[in-house]
This record gives sequence, C-alpha cells and structure tokens, in this order.
Amino acid sequence: MGVSEPLDPLAKTALWTASMRAREHEREDRLFSDPLARVFAGTEGPRIMVQFEGSVQSGVEDPALAVRTRFLDDWLLRLDRRGLRQFVFLAVGMDSRAFRLPWSPGVVVFELDRPALLSLKDDLVGSAAAQSLCARVPLGVDLLAEWTEPLVESGFDQAMPTGWLLEGLLYFLDPQERDLLVEQLSGLSAPGSCLLADYVGQSVLDSPGMASWRARMAEQGYPWKSGSDDPERLFEGFGWDVQVSAYGEPHADYGRWAGATVAPGVPGTRGRYLLVGEQGQGGKAVRR
Ligand SMILES: C[S@@+](CC[C@H](N)C(=O)[O-])C[C@H]1O[C@@H](n2cnc3c(N)ncnc32)[C@H](O)[C@@H]1O
Repeated sequence: MGVSEPLDPLAKTALWTASMRAREHEREDRLFSDPLARVFAGTEGPRIMVQFEGSVQSGVEDPALAVRTRFLDDWLLRLDRRGLRQFVFLAVGMDSRAFRLPWSPGVVVFELDRPALLSLKDDLVGSAAAQSLCARVPLGVDLLAEWTEPLVESGFDQAMPTGWLLEGLLYFLDPQERDLLVEQLSGLSAPGSCLLADYVGQSVLDSPGMASWRARMAEQGYPWKSGSDDPERLFEGFGWDVQVSAYGEPHADYGRWAGATVAPGVPGTRGRYLLVGEQGQGGKAVRR
C-alpha cells in the first residue's frame, strides 16, 4: 500500500458513511450488499460512527443512509436500463457502486473527490484486489475550484446524457457554492441527463431539534451549511424538473423508516429528502 496524504475533516465523513454501509451489509435484512465497505471504512470510519451515535443519537441507528443508498442504487440501475452509459459521481468518497452494481457493458463512471481521498481509495482497492464492473475513472479535484475542464479532459462526453450523483454533498456547501456547482454540471448536461441527490429542508436544518447535530458536525470540521425548503424551484432554476421523496414516503422507506427517532420534523416541511431531477424540455440545462 502506498503512503497516502492525510485526509481533511470533510473527506473523513466518507469513511463514516462507508462504516454505516458496512454495518448494513452485515444485517440479515440488508437493503443492499456492499462487501468493500468494511475495507473502505478502515478503523477511522467506525470510530466516527460510534462517536456520533453516542453523542447525538443515543445509540439509535439512523436508517437514512441505508434508505438513501438503496434508493439511489435503484435509480442508477433504472438510468442504466434507460440506456445511459455515462455517470459522474461528485464527491464519491468511498462509494463502491462502481464495484458492486451490475452495470451494462459500455458504462463509464467518473469518480470525483479530493485527490487525497481518491489516492487512499485506490490503495484500498489495490489491497482488496477489487475489480470494477464498469470503466471507472477516478479524478482528484476540488469541486469548489475548476473541475469541469479536468472532467472533459479525462474523457467525459458532453454530447452524451449523464447520470449525476450528488450524495452526501449538498448540505456541506453554502448556497453560493451549491448554486455554482449545480450550474456547472447543468451546463455539461446533454438532453436526457438525470440528477440524483439527497438534501435537507432549510427549516428543519434551522430547527432546535437539529441544533446539537449541527454543533457537533461544526465542531468536527464538517458543518452543514445549507438546505432548501423548495428544491423544486431551486433546481428548476437550472433547467431540471425535480421529484422530491421525503424519507419515509412509500418509495423511500424500504420498511426502515417507521418508528425512526431521527430527523425531527417541523410541521409543514419535509425534513430530509431524496431528489431525482430530469432535464426539462429544450436541451442542455441552463439557468432560467
Ligand atoms: C459524506 S461524504 C459522501 C461520500 C459519498 N458520496 C457517500 O455518500 O458515501 C462527503 C464527501 O464529499 C467530498 N467533498 C466535500 N467537499 C469537496 C470538494 N470541495 N471537492 C471534492 N470533494 C469534496 C469529501 O471528500 C467526501 O468524500
């Protein structure tokens, strides 16, 4: 294994989500199979997971990660069946979908994240002798700086429809950073492209019930900086028709949400949710 650069605090959240996926993989009633997650989580991932569950959620397992992973798996495979062959996972972290989903021949997955994180991931992939099930193109970038040119230079085809995945990312961006990122990816989106993401309601984010969570996240160096109470309008502004599924709605439940004691809601708002954006009529998504 090579000697990887230290990870910044935000990159370490990828080890945390890997640890939650490893735990899900080990359940008899698992919503998905993720054999690499334990390798990707290392020792740091379980440590962060336990620390958060102990201090914020009193040992309660948050079902959101399992539900969102399965929901997004299902959507990615639906897009594959529709004929999409180009996918870009922004802030991919230790997501192992390139290695575990049954992709059709010809699929290429661009994996974008910080260089240090991807370098560690490559070391771990090598040590596990894991083989991707698609053409996987890791690309170390800063998504808050210039990333579109390196993407195009690494083979991204602007003429092809793209499946964009923004999982575990948007709430770490402030509104300006979020808008710029969505504007950039929208400008690269050929007709037929689709955008998948998870996000949070701004009112819920600002509610007293979220205060200790937010404080803890900020203390650790990865504050949640934004949400949206009106994602339809937000994304429509960039040319996307968005369907929103709040966790716990019938197609975003998978038998896990009922009785969950996390994600306190504020009446009239949608708490945490999953987004599916389709290109509106008229070609490339543009800000409108
Ligand atoms: C919570 S993890 C989510 C990882 C993965 N998408 C998942 O759901 O497991 C957040 C990821 O965002 C990445 N990230 C945050 N800001 C970034 C930036 N400016 N440029 C590149 N990656 C970034 C981090 O390195 C980290 O891998």
